[in-house]
Amino acid sequence: MAQRRFLVTAALPYSNGRLHVGHIAGAYLPADTYVRYLRATGADVRFICGSDDNGVAALKTAREQGRDVADLTRHYNRCQQADFAGLWINFDIYGGTHQPDYVAVHERFSQDFFLKIHEKGLFTKRTDKQLYDLEAQQFLPDRFVRGRCPHCGSDKAFGDQCEGCGRALDQISLLDPVSMMTSSKPVLRDTVHWYLRLDRLQARLAAWLTEKKNGRTGGACWRPVVINQSLGRIESEGLPERAMTRDLTWGVPLPLDDPDAKGKSLYVWFDAPIGYVSFTAALCRRRGEALEDYERWWKDPECRVVHFIGEDNIVFHAITWPAMLLATHDSESIQGERHEYQLPHNVVANSFMNIKFPGKDEEKISKSRGNAVWIEDYLRTFDPDPLRYYLTVAAPEQARTAFDVDDFIARNNGELLNAFGNFFNRTLTFAHRYFEGKVPAPGERAAEDREQLQRCGDAVRMAGEALEACRFKAALAEVMSLARAGNGYFDATKPFQTRKSDMEACGRAINVCLQTARTLTTIIAPFLPCTAEKCAKMLRPDGDYRAWAAATSELRAEHPLGEPEILVKKLEAKELFAD
Ligand code: 2FM
Ligand code: ZN
Repeated sequence: MAQRRFLVTAALPYSNGRLHVGHIAGAYLPADTYVRYLRATGADVRFICGSDDNGVAALKTAREQGRDVADLTRHYNRCQQADFAGLWINFDIYGGTHQPDYVAVHERFSQDFFLKIHEKGLFTKRTDKQLYDLEAQQFLPDRFVRGRCPHCGSDKAFGDQCEGCGRALDQISLLDPVSMMTSSKPVLRDTVHWYLRLDRLQARLAAWLTEKKNGRTGGACWRPVVINQSLGRIESEGLPERAMTRDLTWGVPLPLDDPDAKGKSLYVWFDAPIGYVSFTAALCRRRGEALEDYERWWKDPECRVVHFIGEDNIVFHAITWPAMLLATHDSESIQGERHEYQLPHNVVANSFMNIKFPGKDEEKISKSRGNAVWIEDYLRTFDPDPLRYYLTVAAPEQARTAFDVDDFIARNNGELLNAFGNFFNRTLTFAHRYFEGKVPAPGERAAEDREQLQRCGDAVRMAGEALEACRFKAALAEVMSLARAGNGYFDATKPFQTRKSDMEACGRAINVCLQTARTLTTIIAPFLPCTAEKCAKMLRPDGDYRAWAAATSELRAEHPLGEPEILVKKLEAKELFAD
């Protein structure tokens, strides 16, 4: 069978702040788990991320903090890289749309994209009214203006989107608008922008999303929320043209020889997803390939492009970005020719994660309220895997969940330590104490031994199926259920008793426990890579312990084991979360 190929991306975080547990649960951890799993099956994968530096988000924070915007994004890009590395979230490249090493290539790709779509006549140039701040003497794109939502009345509505109802907004529809720059009341002024003709791409997008809805997905399992939000939007509101330029100088300059293009840049949501492509190209170059080799990942139908995102990014990844890709195609078909951009194979979105501190109510994580668990703080005290474990079991895969500090501690101590850690600990300690640190002979296996080994095979299959479908919680539940079954088998076969009466039966049981531990080592690895590495040091299986196909290959009798080591530590909430 030909080697499978995947290009996996995780949403580019804005480089105007640190990362918290909600970010990690939303996109980055599931993406990393998926990539680790795919690689374990032998797939060729490139895993792409980087910071989203352009546009209003960074500019606004830089103004608030009195810092230079380029320095600010450089600083946070570095912080993000440290956070990801600390959690063992290992991208093949971590670029940044305005970072010194990437900005030139990124601008070239973004401008080429714009020009290609422009050539195809899919932009309309139009003069429209926009909000203008007389004191700051500038237009107020996107988050530079806030007001009341014309749909739901929330006062948390910004120039691009309402935080109350989540709808995309046209800034001039905002009620009682206020400039975020000077707090003054803005006025309306004429300005020219280039609008993407989403209306002309609507039929093709709807057809593509309908195929996904009807299950013609080429093997991908689209989550209902992604289909419902995107197809639902098209069916209920249609797709009006959207401005893809802004009156800003912090961004990718508009590449048109037109006096009206002066002082304008591409909309950040236009250039950010192109970052996935430009960073792929930069990675090709870093690996000694040609820049153009990015096409092998983006323009070859044999390669599957999978985007991991948070729920607030669904419309951009399931409508706007595919529309941009389609807009570069030469034909009107959905599929696109070889050597043209392929549409995403899957867009995997999680919901948001709230937070719940002991003795307090569950609340939305908010930077301004400072009620987050920041990754940098977490890593000062804890190892990565307790968090990776919790953020997977409590992942907001179908609906909003909460990071509950008590639950985090309880699950670490009650599940990871009790079920998984203890199974390894008792098995390895026993093998060292009574079998000289070697795998005892399998002997003549009885029905209960064969059943336990059967459970190992079943867990590999079921966890694999769930991982293929991006059902990470379900997959981890299979792994944990095997660990529990291992403990059950240990208790039932009572090696602690048979060692005094029937050493052959005792060896048989420990052999099966060690085979179970061997399987667990492989299938826990995509979730808890740090723990899996320790398991592998204790078991020392032949070959790559992460290879999924070898998860049930047995350790032979007399195989020498490594020293037992504590896998999971007991945690206490006060270590981290004391106010
Ligand atoms: O919501 C966000 O954090 C955006 N910076 C995500 C961008 S994803 C992509 F398009 F780059
Ligand atoms: Zn609203």
